[in-house]
Amino acid sequence: MPTSRTPARKPAAPAAAAADAIALLSADHQAVAKLHKKFERLVKAKAPASERGAVAQQICHALTLHATAEEEIFYPPVRAAIGKPDLMDEADIEHACAKDLIAQIESLSPEDDKYDARVIVLCEYVAHHVEEEETEMFPKAKRVKTLDMQALGEAIAARKAALAAELGIEPDGAAAKSRPTSRRTTRPNTAVGRRA
Ligand SMILES: [Fe+2]
Ligand SMILES: [Fe+2]
Repeated sequence: MPTSRTPARKPAAPAAAAADAIALLSADHQAVAKLHKKFERLVKAKAPASERGAVAQQICHALTLHATAEEEIFYPPVRAAIGKPDLMDEADIEHACAKDLIAQIESLSPEDDKYDARVIVLCEYVAHHVEEEETEMFPKAKRVKTLDMQALGEAIAARKAALAAELGIEPDGAAAKSRPTSRRTTRPNTAVGRRA
């Protein structure tokens, strides 16, 4: 048994490789699905407005960061590469519909009529969109060897971080601890539709 109190130093781990674009976007999808479940549990438990509002805000923020990165960084090269303009047009329209719901939620209080319903419909709608991305768009994009998923992943991560800083939120959509945000003062929906 070794007696030394100084453990041998482990060799430095290699710098973690940035996730590729599809892994990163899929992780975002899973994070929003978890928030969706959390929100539904809160509704079922008749949780206070503040708790429901905080989760709804995180959902809206996370979707804003994700959608902006997809629209600016991921969709344009994928559209050019996969030769499926109808699929990409549908994705664009689905983003626009989600943005409308996010804008409605952002303009309401969690105590308002049908607030919870709007959040749940947004999440269900996004789940449908995500399924199409993961079963149709992403597999087609993966097959295009000229798409550099690693470089796209790095660009997506950088764009999300920059937009999160701009909006004063965490990259996962949570409110920044040092700078509490108000639903009515941050306007993430204004950024969703930006195009490169
Ligand atoms: Fe999308
Ligand atoms: Fe997505």
